Amino acid sequence: VTPHKLNIVPFVSVDSMMKLVLAIGVETVLTEMAQYIEQDYANWKNFDKTARVASHSHDGVIELMPTSDGNLYSFKYVNGHPKNTKQGLQTVTAFGVLADVASGYPVLLSEMTILTALRTAAMSALAAKYLAPKNAQTLALIGNGAQSEFQAIAFKAILGMKQLRLYDIDRAASHRCAKNLEGMGFSVTVCNTSQEAIEGAHVITTVTADKQYATILTDNMVGSGVHINAVGGDCPGKTELHKDILLRSDIFVEFTPQTRIEGEIQQLTADHPVTEFWQVVSGTAKGRSSDQQITLFDSVGFAIEDFSALRYVRDKLVQTKHFDELDLIADPDEPRDLFGMLLRAAAA
Ligand SMILES: NC(=O)c1ccc[n+]([C@@H]2O[C@H](COP(=O)([O-])OP(=O)(O)OC[C@H]3O[C@@H](n4cnc5c(N)ncnc54)[C@H](O)[C@@H]3O)[C@@H](O)[C@H]2O)c1
Repeated sequence: VTPHKLNIVPFVSVDSMMKLVLAIGVETVLTEMAQYIEQDYANWKNFDKTARVASHSHDGVIELMPTSDGNLYSFKYVNGHPKNTKQGLQTVTAFGVLADVASGYPVLLSEMTILTALRTAAMSALAAKYLAPKNAQTLALIGNGAQSEFQAIAFKAILGMKQLRLYDIDRAASHRCAKNLEGMGFSVTVCNTSQEAIEGAHVITTVTADKQYATILTDNMVGSGVHINAVGGDCPGKTELHKDILLRSDIFVEFTPQTRIEGEIQQLTADHPVTEFWQVVSGTAKGRSSDQQITLFDSVGFAIEDFSALRYVRDKLVQTKHFDELDLIADPDEPRDLFGMLLRAAAA
């Protein structure tokens, strides 16, 4: 997108994001976004990397997630408030900016609540492409809230997984998820317990929201050979898996310094061995290496994934035109005459 003037910034509202995603197709968006994330993870060494800046409060967290590859810069504002749904608000909302490093000018401002669900699901399925057992068919999805359908569709689009076993402490959430996925080619079973949900599953996704050390899975529930995609534990004091599962698993993380603080591995010692996912993408470390191995993607969400998602949206704006033009940056005729511009506005 090249707006006629650099001070006019393309803005993707929630409405535009929905139109854009529907115009392209959710499965295509997830597949293509996973390719963008994979490209950026392959370019890992060229990125500025920092654990996100988190502001914790009693009920939740507000985070800023910046990164840059030297050409583009991005940041996301995102919250996590598990209690919100009881008041009719979402657990996770977000927006973000992509900017041109050379000028420092923003080139895109976007809603990122929908985009975060898309990129998290794309990232989960991308990790599973390297880590899940071969020919995985059955996905257990524990926690059937806002992220859940996106997760299911990404695993179908990217890995062809169509058998879905749902569990949520709120049964209405599972039924809503099942209903939303009707007609998309899934075979869905709504289960009564998490134990029942993981029966026969090749991949187990935990994507629950609770601000505590929860135990969604205990050690005795998890058999050899499965891949666990642990998405919901993403804050200090907020985890989903019993520690003993971690001790039996080969653990893959996004950015170690951030995951040590926020991920399931906050339950382990700071020197417990983990593999960063970029190493697997670039071929310097192995993904799954045996049928017996339990692989764990300890997902917390990293800034590069948001960078990739914003980069993807920006590329798609050219063909879809689903954006508004935002008068975001002051633009005096003479760049140093900012106050003069104000005076001329007063006169006018
Ligand atoms: N890793 C990442 O990149 C990433 C990205 C987005 C969200 N998240 C996290 O994923 C989680 C889910 O997000 P969401 O937007 O879907 O939240 P949500 O509040 O919309 O849904 C969470 C669901 O989990 C269910 N749940 C809570 N405790 C449970 C339990 N013990 N067993 C089964 N189900 C349980 C709730 O009933 C609810 O339906 C949050 O914790 C969020 O912080 C992580």
